[in-house]
Amino acid sequence: MRTVHTLKELRAVLKVYRGQGKRIGLVPTMGSLHEGHISLVHKALEAADVVVTSVFVNPMQFGANEDLDNYPRTLQADQDRLRAAGNTLVFAPAASEIYPEGPECHTRITVPEVSEGHCAVTRPDHFGGVATVVTMLFNMVQPDVAVFGEKDYQQLAVIRKLVRDLFIPVEIIGATTVRATDGLARSSRNVYLSDGERLRAPTLYRVMRETGAALVAGNRNFSHLEQSAREVLFAEGLQPDYFNIVNSSTLKPAQPGDTELTILAAAFLGSTRLIDNLSLSLKPLNPHS
Ligand code: PAF
Repeated sequence: MRTVHTLKELRAVLKVYRGQGKRIGLVPTMGSLHEGHISLVHKALEAADVVVTSVFVNPMQFGANEDLDNYPRTLQADQDRLRAAGNTLVFAPAASEIYPEGPECHTRITVPEVSEGHCAVTRPDHFGGVATVVTMLFNMVQPDVAVFGEKDYQQLAVIRKLVRDLFIPVEIIGATTVRATDGLARSSRNVYLSDGERLRAPTLYRVMRETGAALVAGNRNFSHLEQSAREVLFAEGLQPDYFNIVNSSTLKPAQPGDTELTILAAAFLGSTRLIDNLSLSLKPLNPHS
């Protein structure tokens, strides 16, 4: 497995693979890789001959008071995990390679509607930064297929719309969230949790499952379910950021007739922000019952 740091090297290596008619897969990451990322690489290897994993902590998607400086950077360990997973090429550029004049002066991509609400309420510039860097990675790698985790549900919706709207010729694959045995979604930010916080962290997914069970049982009082969930999270020591029951495609508030619903949630545990989601296919309500 090779690692390249510049666009020039990346293009030279990919030209050879393309000349051999190989199908190219991309797994964009910010490094600090865990089992969730490795599952994305496996998924990409099922769909492509050659897999490029990018490792780049993208400054444009971090807000002023967020964890850009402290975000874990573990390139050596990431390379070891990627090699073991059968990944072909690592693209680990410096920030100056991606933003030569700095992120503030760079062209930005805005994806309307799905970028609004939910995570964007506390992270207003986040999805613009994600959409921009992902577009750049698509242009740099020109992959046939790219794999993203479903854990970042809103991010995946933003990327799908971006690809549709800009006619970017890449197939987007969403990969199922990998969870610890107690239900906590794997995330690079889990390393910030103290031992006590780690024990409480699965509460988020538990409350989402309980809400999901109420929806499956026919409860359509969405605002009441959301409010009760926030109260339970708060009572168990988490600071809910949002807990929203939405239409799975539009990410707009769920309506009683919707059958494809997703619970989107984020909560702080100390200073660590956990996010998660749960999608449900419900039976249509029978208006005559
Ligand atoms: O999901 C992530 O790790 C990042 O948002 C991504 C897609 C790699 C863009 O920086």
